[in-house]
Amino acid sequence: MSKTPTSKTADHTAASSIWGGRFAEGPAAVMQKINASIDFDKRLADQDIRGSVAHCAMLVATGILTAADGEVIVNGLGLIRQEIAAGTFVFRAELEDIHMNIEARLAELVGEAAGRLHTARSRNDQVATDFRLWVRDTIDGMGLALRDLQAALIGQAEAHAATVMPGFTHLQVAQPVTFGHHLLAYVEMFGRDRGRLADARGRLNECPLGSAALAGTSFPIDRAMTAAALGFDRPTANSLDAVSDRDFALEFLAAAAICAVHLSRLAEELVLWTTSQFGFVSLSDKFTTGSSIMPQKRNPDAAELVRAKAGRVIGDLNALLIVMKGLPLAYSKDMQDDKEPVFEAADTLELCLAAMAGMIRDLTLREDRLRAAAGAGFATATDIADWLVRVAGLPFRQAHHITGRVVRLAEQRGCRLEDLAEADLKAIDDHLDARVFALLGVEASVASRTSFGGTAPANVATAAQAARQRFL
Ligand code: ARG
Repeated sequence: MSKTPTSKTADHTAASSIWGGRFAEGPAAVMQKINASIDFDKRLADQDIRGSVAHCAMLVATGILTAADGEVIVNGLGLIRQEIAAGTFVFRAELEDIHMNIEARLAELVGEAAGRLHTARSRNDQVATDFRLWVRDTIDGMGLALRDLQAALIGQAEAHAATVMPGFTHLQVAQPVTFGHHLLAYVEMFGRDRGRLADARGRLNECPLGSAALAGTSFPIDRAMTAAALGFDRPTANSLDAVSDRDFALEFLAAAAICAVHLSRLAEELVLWTTSQFGFVSLSDKFTTGSSIMPQKRNPDAAELVRAKAGRVIGDLNALLIVMKGLPLAYSKDMQDDKEPVFEAADTLELCLAAMAGMIRDLTLREDRLRAAAGAGFATATDIADWLVRVAGLPFRQAHHITGRVVRLAEQRGCRLEDLAEADLKAIDDHLDARVFALLGVEASVASRTSFGGTAPANVATAAQAARQRFL
C-alpha cells in the first residue's frame, strides 16, 4: 500500500469550509443542520468501533493492510472507545456523522494509518453494519425486559390463580374468570412479542460489511471473516440489497409496535380497574400521583402514559415505512432518517416495559370487589344453559333460549339468578329444577372451565407453572 497520507478526513473538513466560503453563511449552516446526523447517530459509536476493528483485522489477515498499520489503527480505536466512555470525545457536526467523527479522531491520534482503515469499505456498508449490530443488541436487551415483565405477570398469576373476577366481552360482564387467567393472557402476548423479535434477529444477522458503496470491492477481502468476528451468521448475499434495505429495522419496529399495542391494552385495563367504579386493584404509591387540587385523587399516570406511548412507536414504524417506500436502489441519503424512529421506539418501549413490570409487581387486589363484580350481571347464566345441555340433553340453542328467559325474569324482578324460586324456574321450563342453584356461584363456574386453556383455578396454576418453564 502507498505510504502517501490520504487524509480523507482533512479533505472532508476542507470541503465543508469550501461550502462555507462559496455560500452565504445562513444556507451553509442550514445545510450542515439538515445533513449532519451526529446528534443522534453517536449512539452507534460502540458498534462503529466494533465494525472497524473487525474490518481492520480482516484487512491485515488478507494482506491488504500491514500488521503494523493494523495494530496502530486498533490501538487508536481503543483510545477512542475510552474517550467516548469517559465523555471526553468531542463530537463535531461539521464531520457529519459518527463514522467520519471517529475516523477524523483516529487520524488525529495515529496519523496517516487512519486513512487506510476505509480501504475496501464505504460509509454505506459501514452504517448498514453498525445499525444491524445496534438493532441486534437492542433486541437482546428488549427480550430480557419482556422476560422480566412476564416474570412479574406470572408471579401475580400464581398468587391469584383462584381469585375470581368478571370476564368481559364488549366490556360487558360475560363470564367469571380468574385474575391469574387474565394476567396469563398477557404473558402469552408478550411471549409472542419475544418470538417476533427473535425472528427479526435471525433474519437481520447477516453482515453487510464488504458490500462497499453498492457494488462490492476489487480488494481481495474475506467477508466471512468479518461476519464471523461480529457474530453474524454469514455475509449478506447481494451488495445492492445489503446497503439499501432497512427491512431489519422495519421488522424491529413492527414487532415493537405490536408490543406497544399489547402494553397499551394492559395499561388501559389498569386505568379502568383502578377507578372507583371498578375498584378491582390498587397501584402502589411508586406508580401513581396525587392531584394538586383534589386531595382524594390517586392517578394512574404511569399506566396512562404507557397507554399513550404506543402512539409514538406506531408512528415510528409508519415513519420508516414511508421513508423507505419508493426509494430506488441502492443507497439514498433518505436512509439516514432510519435511525431516529428506531432509537425512539427502542427508548420508549424500554421505558414502558420497565414501568409496566413495576406496576404489575406492586399491584394489590381488592378481592372482595372482584368477587362481588364477578357474581354481578348474571355472569353465570351460561352455566345454566350448559347444564340444560349436559343434564337434560337439550340442544344448546334451546338451552340458551330457556336461560334467556330466566335472566329476563330476574331482570324484571331486579334480583339475582339465585334469588329466584324453584317454582319460577319450573314455570319457565320443566327441565329446570333446584339443582341449577348450585351452578350459580362464581367459584363453581370457574372451577368447571377445565378445558385446556380454560380458566379453572387448577388449570391456571398448571398454566402458570408451564409459563415459567416456557418463558423464564
Ligand atoms: N450518515 C449516513 C447514514 O446514516 C452514513 C452513510 C452516508 N453515505 C453516503 N453515501 N453519504 O445514512
